Parts: sequence; structure tokens; C-alpha cells
Amino acid sequence: MGEVEPAFIQDLQHRPKLTIIEAEGIPLIDLSALNSGSADAVSDASLVSDIGDACKKWGFFQVINHGVPLEKREKLEKAARELFDQPLEEKVKMRRDEVRVYGYYDTEHTKNVRDWKEVFDFTLQNPTIVPASTRPHEEHVVEWYNQWPQYPPQLREACEEYAEEVERLCFKLMELIALSLGLPTDSFNGFFKDQTSFVRLNHYPPCPAPDLALGVGRHKDGGALTVLAQDDVGGLEVKRKSDGEWIRVKPTPDAFIINVGDIIQVWSNERYESVEHRVMVNSKKERFSIPFFFNPAHYTIVKPLEELTSEDNPPKYRPYSWGNFLVTRKGSNFKKLDVENIQI
Ligand code: SIN
Ligand code: FE2
Repeated sequence: MGEVEPAFIQDLQHRPKLTIIEAEGIPLIDLSALNSGSADAVSDASLVSDIGDACKKWGFFQVINHGVPLEKREKLEKAARELFDQPLEEKVKMRRDEVRVYGYYDTEHTKNVRDWKEVFDFTLQNPTIVPASTRPHEEHVVEWYNQWPQYPPQLREACEEYAEEVERLCFKLMELIALSLGLPTDSFNGFFKDQTSFVRLNHYPPCPAPDLALGVGRHKDGGALTVLAQDDVGGLEVKRKSDGEWIRVKPTPDAFIINVGDIIQVWSNERYESVEHRVMVNSKKERFSIPFFFNPAHYTIVKPLEELTSEDNPPKYRPYSWGNFLVTRKGSNFKKLDVENIQI
């Protein structure tokens, strides 16, 4: 069993296969046409249809020439390494808990199995406003703050600069997704005025039993859109919709991996689906990744967009409150709400 504690061990049917399938990867999309302006300026209609096809077929794609300066990403990657290199007693000083929901954490569980990783979360909107209660009639809200460590000193600046750049990319991607659904370019912008977006720094140390444990167990993302920077080690696997095979996403230098989350699945009334993914670890190399979770305001009521439903295509989901979803998810081990639970 290696030296892995039982809490990390996946059930037999969910253990990773060590033979990796890399053939026919997720689509790689060049965004250089976008860098001059908003999605409106895109004369190349094939960009919009490529994004639509990727969302439909995979729920995932990679982008290059995305406009996020490489030096901003590298500055944050360096700071993340230095952060995780600290002794545990330093890192737990900013431990995330039920009240301070952003910070350091090394005991994340996915589907009740512990993940082989440590994380540091921070929010873009500091503080993040969320409902104090999951009861809809209670109006008052609470604020969730970031906790910044003293070391490395440049971490905060690196985080804030990176987040600003990736946020801009997210707005552009949402514009392209809107166009691909036949909607006006700015259809989604209003949802993200007061965001609950956050960024996660992930560190996956080498694991003595990569055949038994996972860096992150299989899951779907609950938010709107995820923009992931992975390093050159590799480990992310996506469940291919056509046959349910786990497909490794091969690292591409300076690319971002984009996936649609549950909210886009609901907004689009399942034209696009949020797809399961997981992270494999390995016994030799540590791995770092940085997902940016683009999420709407807490007061957003998520429901299929009227423009995308009709008599022949009635809404497949009941409206739900994103703020309530967020507090039930983040607050300790409350019951996890999955989009499946609100399906009509
Ligand atoms: C995640 O899906 O939560 C992490 C993805 C990764 O580290 O590649
Ligand atoms: Fe994920």
C-alpha cells in the first residue's frame, strides 16, 4: 500500500489506470484575434464556432495567445512554490476554516476520499459578500476575507496582478460563449459585477502510491467557468463524453485549460455540460496548478436563460440561489449540493 494513509485510498473502481491515454486531446484554440478588443471585434466566425464545438463535445478546451502576460503567471508560480516550501507550522498560521474560508488547507476531501494536495485560496473581491444564512428570507450578509502570509512577501501582489489579468480573459471567454449560444455578446456580463470568484494555488507533492490515491478525486466544477494554469508535469484527466474514458490533458506551454462549470450547464439548459475531471499524482515529481474559478454575484438566481428555452425545450432546472449554494458548500462539511439535486 506504499506509505499512504487509508483516508487517501480510492475505491477500486475509481483508482487511476497507470496507462495514460493522450491521443486526440481536448481542442487547442488560438485567441490572438481577440487581443485587439472585445469579442464583438472578432470577424473570424470560426473562433466562435470552435469554442461552441469544444464546449459541446468536451466541456473543456485549451487556449493560447490569450493575452495574459507570461511574466504575471511566472511571478505567481514562483511565489506559490515559495509559499508551499514553508514548514507546515508557518502555513497553518493562515489555515482556512469555517469562518476564514480563504487561506491554507491540506485536508480537502472529494467524495469523502482525501485529496493528495495542499492548497491556498484567495478571493478577487476582498471581502466576498455572501448570505449569512441559507434561509432565503434572511437578508443580512457576511464578509469573507483573504489571509495573506508574511512570506513570501511578493505573494499578495503576484496574486492580485494575476487575478486581474485572468478576470479580463474570463469576461472575453464569456462573450465568446454567449455568441456561440446565439446570444448577444454581453449577455453574461451583468452576472459578474459583484463576483464571488476565487483563485486556488494547488501543490501536489510526490505520492508513494499514485495507483491508489488522487490529487483531486473525480468532480465537476460548481461555478461558471474555470481557467486553469497547469505546470509541465501533467496529471489532469478529463472524462471523455463520447465513451467515458479518462483522457490526460497534455501540458502546453503558456496555455490555459478552460472548462464550463455547472452554472453554464444550467444557463444553457444543457446545451453545454459541466464535465467530470480528476488529477493524478506521481511518485517522482511534485506538481503545481492554479485554477481561477469565475463565479457570479452571491445574489444571482441561477436558472436556464429564457432565450435558450422554449415550449419544445422547457427548462431542465429549477432556479437556485448561488449565494446559498456557496455557503452550503464552503461552510465546513454541510451537505454538498450538486446541480443534479436541483434538476427538474
Ligand atoms: C481541479 O480540478 O480542482 C484541479 C485541476 C488541476 O490541478 O489540474
Ligand atoms: Fe475542478
